[in-house]
Amino acid sequence: MKVLITGGAGFIGANFVHQTLADRPDAQVTVLDKLTYAGNKASLDDVADKITFVQGDVADPDVVDPLVADSDVVVHFAAESHNDNSLNDPSPFIRSNLVGTFQLLEAVRRHGVRYHHISTDEVYGDLALDDPAKFTPGTPYNPSSPYSASKAGSDLLVRAWVRSFGVAATISNCSNNYGPYQHIEKFIPRQITNLIDGVRPKLYGAGLNVRDWIHVLDHNRAVWTIIDKGRIGQTYLIGADGELNNVQVVEMILELMGHDPHDYDHVNDRAGHDRRYAIDASKLRDELGWTPQYTDFRDGLAQTIAWYRDNESWWRPQKAATEAKYAAQGQ
Ligand code: NAD
Ligand code: TYD
Repeated sequence: MKVLITGGAGFIGANFVHQTLADRPDAQVTVLDKLTYAGNKASLDDVADKITFVQGDVADPDVVDPLVADSDVVVHFAAESHNDNSLNDPSPFIRSNLVGTFQLLEAVRRHGVRYHHISTDEVYGDLALDDPAKFTPGTPYNPSSPYSASKAGSDLLVRAWVRSFGVAATISNCSNNYGPYQHIEKFIPRQITNLIDGVRPKLYGAGLNVRDWIHVLDHNRAVWTIIDKGRIGQTYLIGADGELNNVQVVEMILELMGHDPHDYDHVNDRAGHDRRYAIDASKLRDELGWTPQYTDFRDGLAQTIAWYRDNESWWRPQKAATEAKYAAQGQ
């Protein structure tokens, strides 16, 4: 099977490349990645001789068309992925997330190629902290940020291409991922690498916002389950019942790294900060039989901390610039 993985030098995509090569020896993997600030080719160094790597833009039809034509399945991870960046400058989010998805859909339509679209639970907006509800595939779209709006728009393009053009596509909307190879602008690796540098963790606002954490390897196993067994045209929500607020996560990181759990600071809140995300993954579990393997967040977090300690050369080149960007906005 020839698999085209877009965004394979990013966090989730790089983990997906490694998992695919390990679990599916028959797979021929091609990665298409623009290598933006978030892409890191070093994440694929250990498999460089087992894949074809193409540096290019998913929004460029001349790049996309021949790669899609030569594939059996396209798994589309590539995106601008950070909410804070989308508040500072939305324009790359529109090009990469909307135009990029459009160009891939046109190519899979032309060539009759199976397509899986990676998306986020943030398309549904947020839930109140005291609301017992969770997101389901029937929850109305209500995105808050330019990032989540661009992802919501890309999902709707996929649905239209399925209905109007018969494209063989599935969509998954996953909750917040953690694990190795995540860019240090994101919440968990930012705090871990700050502590390695002797800097106190930084919580936006009161820190009571809730995220539904899932290990990246569980996300990616769910993606392969959907590609193998999912019904064409369907949307599957991926989550592992991992709701925690940001204070709880920071206190756990501090404790696991040998610090007083209260040694953190509050910084400026994010504009429009979503309060709570929570996933009801029963469709994925009941219909396709997927279950998460990382059921203990504390264990997964400890492994993630160990990975960042052991792989400083991977993240160090980005640290100063990432923190300078945050400092400029009081975060
Ligand atoms: P990331 O920012 O770590 O990686 C994105 C990758 O896409 C990078 O390698 C980057 O170079 C590449 N890229 C960006 N624009 C491109 C373009 N125009 N053409 C080609 N490549 C381009 O992101 P991530 O956290 O790995 O997220 C991957 C996907 O998963 C995204 O679609 C995101 O919306 C979705 N998602 C992420 C999470 C999460 O918690 N991180 C949760 C649910 C869904
Ligand atoms: P983030 O990793 O940016 O993911 P998302 O915005 O997609 O949920 O942030 C996760 C949560 O952590 C979110 O509520 C914002 C918060 N946060 C902080 O409190 N401090 C930080 O330094 C960062 C980067 C995020």
